[in-house]
Amino acid sequence: MNEAKGTALITGGSTGIGAIYADRLARQGYDLILVARNAAKLDQVAATIRTATGRNVDTVPADLSNPGELRLIEARLINDRRITMLVNNAGIGAPVPTWQADIDQMESMIDINATALARLTYAVAQRFAAAGNGTIINIASTVAIAPEFMLNGVYGATKAFVVALTASLHAELADKGVRVQVVLPGATATEFWDLSGVPLSGVPAEIVMSADAMVDAALAGLELGETVTIPALPDAAEWTAFEAARTAMLPNLSLTNPADRYRAVAAAA
Ligand SMILES: NC(=O)c1ccc[n+]([C@@H]2O[C@H](COP(=O)([O-])OP(=O)(O)OC[C@H]3O[C@@H](n4cnc5c(N)ncnc54)[C@H](OP(=O)(O)O)[C@@H]3O)[C@@H](O)[C@H]2O)c1
Repeated sequence: MNEAKGTALITGGSTGIGAIYADRLARQGYDLILVARNAAKLDQVAATIRTATGRNVDTVPADLSNPGELRLIEARLINDRRITMLVNNAGIGAPVPTWQADIDQMESMIDINATALARLTYAVAQRFAAAGNGTIINIASTVAIAPEFMLNGVYGATKAFVVALTASLHAELADKGVRVQVVLPGATATEFWDLSGVPLSGVPAEIVMSADAMVDAALAGLELGETVTIPALPDAAEWTAFEAARTAMLPNLSLTNPADRYRAVAAAA
């Protein structure tokens, strides 16, 4: 369980879900590069993991919403050939209903949750494909498929972006030896909630999972070979049926003629 596996770069490794990934991946034998803004917290996580596992843990303080700092992380992913895994975990939420939210705050959320995730993914995808090896784990959210359920609609849209991007990458890279997985956590007990302005104490306890249990389930999903992992979903057949309904429509989503129901209305007008 402890043989060297290369290096995993984890964004948002200073706390919450990212810090648990760091612990678990180090125990699996990965060296780590942890990225987040808070250098002191990164150093604290790194020191704890070094002591517990003896693995190399590097920290890179960076704000992924800052294009210059994001480019530095991209360069590290492109040039550091020891990196065999990318965990795109950093993300922020927002409490405000979609239509009342501040558009600049929404843009900043898109920058971190979608743009940075896509740029970092591009930074490794070609190298991993050329090497025939590598793993990309993208942290989305169940609101990707339930945007009206809770939190903010732009947040849900950024997470739907992550699900769609991962599905496309899986289709293109699976036969090139590159593993991709998207994780859709439900409510998870981290600082995310308080930072998003929705106190965790106000969320029904029966829908909240611990970050430890969530990450352990997500890594089990990776081991099982899943592309999409929904840690809470008791019956995996429900996701399979959801996907079957979607793929059944594929042959009919792009045709020469509009559907009869539209042609009938257009003809009557
Ligand atoms: N908690 C939940 O209920 C839940 C549910 C579904 C999905 N998720 C997703 O899970 C992921 C991790 O969330 P979490 O619950 O662990 O939240 P968290 O405890 O708030 O941690 C977020 C991490 O992202 C980092 N981060 C935030 N903004 C950043 C920026 N501009 N540049 C670089 N790093 C940044 C933070 O570090 P710094 O502050 O030091 O930068 C921190 O390490 C997110 O993508 C979130 O959307 C969470």
